[in-house]
Amino acid sequence: MIKHFLALANFSPSEIGAFVDRAYSFSLLKKSPDKINHLLKNKIFSNAFFEASTRTRSSFEIAAKRLGAEIVNFSPENSSTKKGETVFDTLRCLENLGVDGIILRHSDNTLINELAPKLSTTLINAGAGKFEHPSQGLLDLLTLKKEFGEIKGLRVGICGDILHSRVAGSMMVAAKKLGFEVILMGPENLIPKNDFKYQDFDKTLPSLDAVMMLRIQHERHEGIFLSQSDYRQAFGMTKERVEKLADHTIIMHPGPFNRGVEIDDEAIEHKQSRIWQQMENGVYARMSILEWASGV
Ligand code: CP
Repeated sequence: MIKHFLALANFSPSEIGAFVDRAYSFSLLKKSPDKINHLLKNKIFSNAFFEASTRTRSSFEIAAKRLGAEIVNFSPENSSTKKGETVFDTLRCLENLGVDGIILRHSDNTLINELAPKLSTTLINAGAGKFEHPSQGLLDLLTLKKEFGEIKGLRVGICGDILHSRVAGSMMVAAKKLGFEVILMGPENLIPKNDFKYQDFDKTLPSLDAVMMLRIQHERHEGIFLSQSDYRQAFGMTKERVEKLADHTIIMHPGPFNRGVEIDDEAIEHKQSRIWQQMENGVYARMSILEWASGV
């Protein structure tokens, strides 16, 4: 049976915990590359990104290389996609070229789940429309684990365009599986109708363990009727709002961020920010996924 990594929703709490624990153990081996650089020797993965990416694409590539695997990068801009080849045929091609797994990013919400059963190589979700971004979910969980030890019972606020965010999608799944609270904040028309609490940003901030800021996903909808300065005023992590946080609260953002809109420079570089650590944790989380996918 082919193992696909499509959504945190497909894994049990203990399986998600095992990914996070393995990612944590990889983080402890940062200074000992010789202990891990043979684990995926002779494996070849393909990065098939039909949407732009900096962090996810690079960190999957670095994760593979740290474990001794090779990565073949595919970009639609200079491939046979330009000649009308479908996504399915591209993936079938990569599969038949002999890759051990395909890391797919695509703007479609459902395509990855439709394609996976038709493939005989592992498919890894690197971001699917506004559905889920499960490798981001794991790195966010690793960030919380490194900070607080125990994830269960934490109070995590997410502020911004939650309706169009696959990052929030995976976080909400993880919250239900692992037993932490997620509170949604931001413009009311960008908040999904679900059973998570929707609360006022300024009133909620002082009570959070972590606050995750999200950018407006302009590529997925027509935009929001607030100017950038009005948005910052209402929902931005400004220098003034950082002062309202408890001393233990950490600031998170999946990136890319729009400085001076949903987050100010001072918040990004604040001592309570874990934004750059999230990016580093992305490599460890993706190492745990590639190892699992390889079945070694
Ligand atoms: N967080 C995230 O997915 O970033 P990229 O779009 O740069 O991969």
